[in-house]
Formats: sequence, structure tokens, C-alpha cells
Amino acid sequence: MSKIELLHGDCLEKMKDIPDGSVDLIVTSPPYYLNKEYEKTISYENYCLMMEKSFVEWNRVLVGGGYVVVNFGDYFNSGNRFYVADVPSCYPATINYFKWGVEVAGMDLQATRIWRKQFAKMGIPFVCNSHPRPVFDYEHIWSFRKKNGSNKEIVVDRKITQRGVVGETWTSTAGLKTHCAAFPIELPEWAITVYSQDKATILDPFMGSGTTGVACKNLNRNFIGIELDPEYFKIAEKRIDVNEKLVKELKDGKNSMLVNRKG
Ligand SMILES: C[S@@+](CC[C@H](N)C(=O)[O-])C[C@H]1O[C@@H](n2cnc3c(N)ncnc32)[C@H](O)[C@@H]1O
Repeated sequence: MSKIELLHGDCLEKMKDIPDGSVDLIVTSPPYYLNKEYEKTISYENYCLMMEKSFVEWNRVLVGGGYVVVNFGDYFNSGNRFYVADVPSCYPATINYFKWGVEVAGMDLQATRIWRKQFAKMGIPFVCNSHPRPVFDYEHIWSFRKKNGSNKEIVVDRKITQRGVVGETWTSTAGLKTHCAAFPIELPEWAITVYSQDKATILDPFMGSGTTGVACKNLNRNFIGIELDPEYFKIAEKRIDVNEKLVKELKDGKNSMLVNRKG
């Protein structure tokens, strides 16, 4: 059975309790700085700083050779907030991600992929609905690898580790309505299958409604999820079906994957 540990609070604070080298894989979708409710109170500079520190922490908690699979989107560049001008100018988030992951945290960028979103209503690409000309209609999925000095991979099943991103069933609308920016479960399920083994420990520091946690349960992986927003946290608890016995055990310090757990 999977071990599940859900932590309510700021990921930079909560990650301090995760021991060095104890996580096999990070699968996450951070805030995109698009003026969602949870992004309104943070300046662009502080947002970048939070992401930069996150990458450093991710590198610390990962095992050598472990991966970060991160899904993110580009944004519009008006004070770097989403805005509804007819002619928006775009800011490619990839510039930031390369800096945070490779230059600051010191990881290798192992692969870049595109999640091409299916056309939304009326055949209009999803981000175009409020603009007269097409803008981006895809998101990024990048895989960073913590260095371990070997440049070698332990591969049990080559067919699985070489699987493409998705099958034909993956659509842009698959994310649940329980979160304003949920990713479809196929995304974490793909990442977990390709980048980790049975019983591995997976972290999602921006868990939202807990999609990565559900994928971990489905695939027999241990899961640590962190979420700041109390409503999304409750939704995640419910979706991942965390029972009271488990919560009590963790409070009593039993079966925890963390150090210094205060209860
Ligand atoms: C893009 S959403 C993730 C959605 C998730 N993948 C899902 O399927 O539901 C990003 C999440 O990060 C959370 N968040 C923002 N800042 C945070 C922080 N400092 N620590 C932890 N969570 C944070 C937001 O509340 C939001 O739920």
C-alpha cells in the first residue's frame, strides 16, 4: 500500500522537513503567474525568487539521478500578469525555467516536451478565446535530472521508459473542475510510469487538488503533497482518500517520511 503524507502550508517551509536525498521523483505544475487567486498577492520578483528557491530544494531532496518533471505555461507580459489586451506580448517561461533548473540548482535538463492542447470550444485554441489572433496553444513538460556523476540510467523496462507523453485519449479538458488549473491525471501517470519504479517516493510541492497523489495511489507509489490553499488542500485530502487513521498515525510520528515532524 502507498504511504501518503499531505502537508498544508508553504512548500518552501514544509520542504525543510524532507530529508536530503529521500525523494525519487518530483512531478508538479507550479503557479504560472497568470493572476489566479493564489498569485495575486505576490510580486513578480518574489514569485521568481520562490521558484528559484524551490528548484534548489528539489535538487536537495532528490536522490542522485532523480528527476523533476515540471509542467508549465508561458505568460503574457504586461507587468507579467495575464491581461486581456487585444494584442498581448508573450513572455516565454522557458527562459526562467532553464535558469532556475540548470544554472541555479545545477541539474541537467534531460528532455523538453510540448503538451499540445486540443482545441477548446468552437475549434478555437484554448488561450485564444479572448484574443483576435492566435497566441500559444500548448504548455511545456520539462524533465530535469539531479546529477549523480554517472550519466548512466538503471532501466528495468525500456519499453516503458521510452513511452511518449500521452495516448490519444489525453485532452486539454481532462483536468478536473475541482481546481482552476488542474492537470489531467494522464500527465502525472505518464511521468511516474516513465521516471520511477514501483514503491518510489514522489513529491508534488504544488499539489493543488491532488492529481499527482491520485496517480501515485493508482500506481503504487508513496506520495508527499504540499498545498498552501486550505480549500484545495481539503479537496486533495478527499480525492486521495486519506483516512483518519493515517492522519493520526502521522501526527503520532508513525510512518512519516519526514524529519522533525511536529504533529
Ligand atoms: C497549477 S496549480 C497545481 C494544480 C494541480 N496540479 C492539480 O492538478 O490540481 C498550483 C498550486 O500551487 C499552490 N501554491 C501556490 N503557491 C504555493 C506555495 N508557496 N506553497 C504551496 N503551494 C502553493 C496553489 O494554491 C495552486 O493550487
